[in-house]
Amino acid sequence: MQLLLGQTIRFAADPFKVPVTDSATHERRGAVALNGGKIADIGSVDDLRMKYPQAEVTDYGDALISPGFVDAHAHYPQTAIIASWGKRLIDWLNSYTFPEESRFGDPAHAAGVAETYFDLVTASGTTTTVSYCTIHPESVDAYFTAAAKRGLRVLGGKTCMDRNAPDTLQDTPQSAYDDSKALLNRWHGQDRLSYVITPRFAPTSTPEQLEALGTLWAENPDVLMQTHISEQHEEIAWVADLFPDAKDYLDVYERFGLVGPGALLGHAIHLTDRERDRIREVDASLIHCPTSNMFIGSGLFDMHGLMEQRHRIGLATDTGGGSSFSMLRTMAAAYEVAQLRGHPLHPAQLWWLATKGSARALRLDDKIGTLEPGTEADITVIDLASTHAIAQRAVRAEDIWQTIFPTIMMGDDRAIKAVWTNGALLRS
Ligand code: GUN
Ligand code: ZN
Repeated sequence: MQLLLGQTIRFAADPFKVPVTDSATHERRGAVALNGGKIADIGSVDDLRMKYPQAEVTDYGDALISPGFVDAHAHYPQTAIIASWGKRLIDWLNSYTFPEESRFGDPAHAAGVAETYFDLVTASGTTTTVSYCTIHPESVDAYFTAAAKRGLRVLGGKTCMDRNAPDTLQDTPQSAYDDSKALLNRWHGQDRLSYVITPRFAPTSTPEQLEALGTLWAENPDVLMQTHISEQHEEIAWVADLFPDAKDYLDVYERFGLVGPGALLGHAIHLTDRERDRIREVDASLIHCPTSNMFIGSGLFDMHGLMEQRHRIGLATDTGGGSSFSMLRTMAAAYEVAQLRGHPLHPAQLWWLATKGSARALRLDDKIGTLEPGTEADITVIDLASTHAIAQRAVRAEDIWQTIFPTIMMGDDRAIKAVWTNGALLRS
C-alpha cells in the first residue's frame, strides 16, 4: 500500500453540466491510497493515515495529485518533425509528415522514436495516449512495446492509406484489413494496450479500403476506430471531389460503417449542422486538438456550441501537427481558442477535459482519468509553483482554481513532479 499526500481534486460531476463550483471537491491536505495498481482510497491525510498505518508514505506537500493526463489523439511517428514551419494541412503532410513516416518500416527507427516519444509525453505528465502509427506493422509493434515497458495504458493502430500518398506509404484494401486484424489480435487486451482501427482520413483511402476497415470494425465492435474529419476547408472540398455521391464528409465514413459510438473523430472544426446532429445521435466522440488547429491554421473548434449539444469531447495534442507534447500547453490553447470564440473555459473544465473528459471520449472513464477508488492508479503530481513567474502569480490566488490556472497557462514539464503508472512510480 502506497499513500501519496498532497492537494486533491475530485470531480463529482461534469463541469460542463453543473455549475463549475459544484463539480469538484478540493482537499487541501489530501491523500490517495494505491494498492495493486489501483486507487484503493481517497480522503484527508488524517483519515487515510489512520486507516492505513502500515502504508509507505510519499508526501508531495502542496503539490496537486491529479489523474495522469489523457491525450486522445496523437501521431507518435511525427515526434521528430514537430514544429515544422510554414505549411497548411495537405502541404504539411506531403512535405514533412509522409517523408518521415516512410522511415517506420525500419524497426530500429520505429523503436527509437517510440522511446523518445514516451519519454517526452510522460515527462509532461501524460499517462495515456491514443496514437496513429504508420502503415507499417513494425511501427505498431514499436509503439506498444515501448508503452508496455513503462506500464502505460495506451491505444493505437496502424494508419491505413491506399491512395494520395507516396508509393512507399501505401497499403491496399486487403493488406490494410489483414495487417490491422493481425495487429489487433496481437495487441488488443495485452497488458493495458488497446488496438484502434485507423483509416487516416477519407482522402487517403479508396472506397474499397474504407469498406474493408468498416468490415473489420463490424467484426470487432469492442475496439475503437479513429480518423480525421473537417479539419481544413481545402480538405473538405477535396473529400467532396473524391466522393461526389456523399452528402458530406461524415457521410463518407458512415457509408462504410465507420460511424458509431466508438468512433474518435479528430479535429471536427467545420462540421455542418447535419454532421453535428448525426454525431450526437450516434454518440461518437469528437477530439479537440487546439495547438494543432492554430499551428496548421485550421480554425476554431466550437467547444461551447458542441458542449451545449452534449457532445462527447476529448482533448489532444495531435503531435506533431500540434506544437507541443504537453497537455498543460494544450489546455492553455483550448482556453485561448475558446476566448476567441467568446466563451472562456473555466480551469475546472480544462482540467476535466484533459483527464476525465478525454477518458470518457475513449470510453475508459471507468478505468482512467479519475481518482475514484477502484480505478487504475495513473497519477501525475503537479508542482503548482514550478517557476518564478507561476509562483508569484499563484500566491495571489483565492481558491484552488486560481492556483491551478497559472500552471495551465504557463506550465511545462518543470511542473511535473512525479508520474505513477499502474500503481508504480515511473518518474520523479
Ligand atoms: N489529416 C490526415 N492526416 C493528418 C495528420 O497526420 N495530422 C493532422 N493534423 N491532420 C491530418
Ligand atoms: Zn491527427
